[in-house]
Amino acid sequence: MALMGSKELIGLDIGSSAIKLAHVKPVGVEFRVKKFGVFPLPPDAIVDGAIMDHVSVIEGIKTALRELKVKEKEVATSLSGHSVIIKKVVLPTTTPEELEESIQWEVEQYIPFDIKDVKIDFQVIGPLKEDPSKMDVLLVAVKTDLVNDYVSVIKDAGLTPSIVDIDSIAAGNAFELCHPVSDEQVPMVVNVGASFMNINILHSGVPLFTRDVPMGGGMYTSEIQKQLAVSFETAEELKVGKKDAGDRAEKITEIMRTVSNILSTEVQRSYNFFSATYPDRLVTKVYLTGGAAKSAFLKEMLVEKIGVDVELFDPFEGLTLEEGSVDPSMVSGFNTAATVAVGLALRNQEARR
Ligand SMILES: Nc1ncnc2c1ncn2[C@@H]1O[C@H](COP(=O)(O)OP(=O)(O)OP(=O)(O)O)[C@@H](O)[C@H]1O
Ligand SMILES: [Mg+2]
Repeated sequence: MALMGSKELIGLDIGSSAIKLAHVKPVGVEFRVKKFGVFPLPPDAIVDGAIMDHVSVIEGIKTALRELKVKEKEVATSLSGHSVIIKKVVLPTTTPEELEESIQWEVEQYIPFDIKDVKIDFQVIGPLKEDPSKMDVLLVAVKTDLVNDYVSVIKDAGLTPSIVDIDSIAAGNAFELCHPVSDEQVPMVVNVGASFMNINILHSGVPLFTRDVPMGGGMYTSEIQKQLAVSFETAEELKVGKKDAGDRAEKITEIMRTVSNILSTEVQRSYNFFSATYPDRLVTKVYLTGGAAKSAFLKEMLVEKIGVDVELFDPFEGLTLEEGSVDPSMVSGFNTAATVAVGLALRNQEARR
């Protein structure tokens, strides 16, 4: 999971509803999008963050590479779900090299899985102000099986997985670089996908709190499917207003309200937990992103429950598009859905700076 980036990387977000591919290059002081596309996956190809249908995912990646004419081989990808643990821990101050040696022993107590079954990565945040003999370290542990699953589909699609990141961290990274805020701000980035909400509360670029809630836009779709006895495709179209609801409009509105209430209650729980843990660092604004960020009533309900401003975050607002090579309708149709892919693509820039 190391950051090693001399070659150009593409961001490959393998989400449960769709594969998102982004290629972003620094040009002067700006970041320029060279490629971007979204390629849908069958509804059950990825369940609870685990790949169930390898063939469909490999085909999806190959379609993305072909349609976008991608030549690069190295990719940054990311994972989410209950096999991922992210924790800020306090360890005795050492060099990163020494920590590399001792990390297994140091962190065993923080990981709820057998240490033999996980891959561990860390980022030293810095020494504690009150006691420099100790330091804050961001610890990331992921079940090896999950990493291997994603690595194998990427390799089978003919690519090299150079960076394996975490969805919530990649979303935070996209936010940091596309929408920089001052050190007084404590933004809460909520990436609402189809199956997960990836939450990341940041301060000065460091994730203070992350959580993956196993609920997302798919919940609206499956409720519409169930209650109106329609197919997945029809339910998706009714949800986003692509298909006229006719006399079912009232029922759909009720479902949208109910599910938005459930999702915003979950975000509120994370917010409350964070506020209790860091009483001196209150969240200054919530940034809603991910494909399902635009779900009816979600933003309003979050404002109501949390009581801070909520804004949609579109990563393209902080980027320029390479003319002729990026399809503007892809960008406008999937702007908030691009966040994780853009965050991954930007790992490229970080490594080269
Ligand atoms: N305009 C819209 N309004 C409401 N929901 C939308 C809209 N556009 C897309 N969605 C929903 O967003 C979800 C897809 O978002 P996204 O691409 O971020 O998810 P994903 O990365 O595939 O999923 P995950 O990361 O949870 O596995 C789907 O549930 C889709 O129906
Ligand atoms: Mg996603």
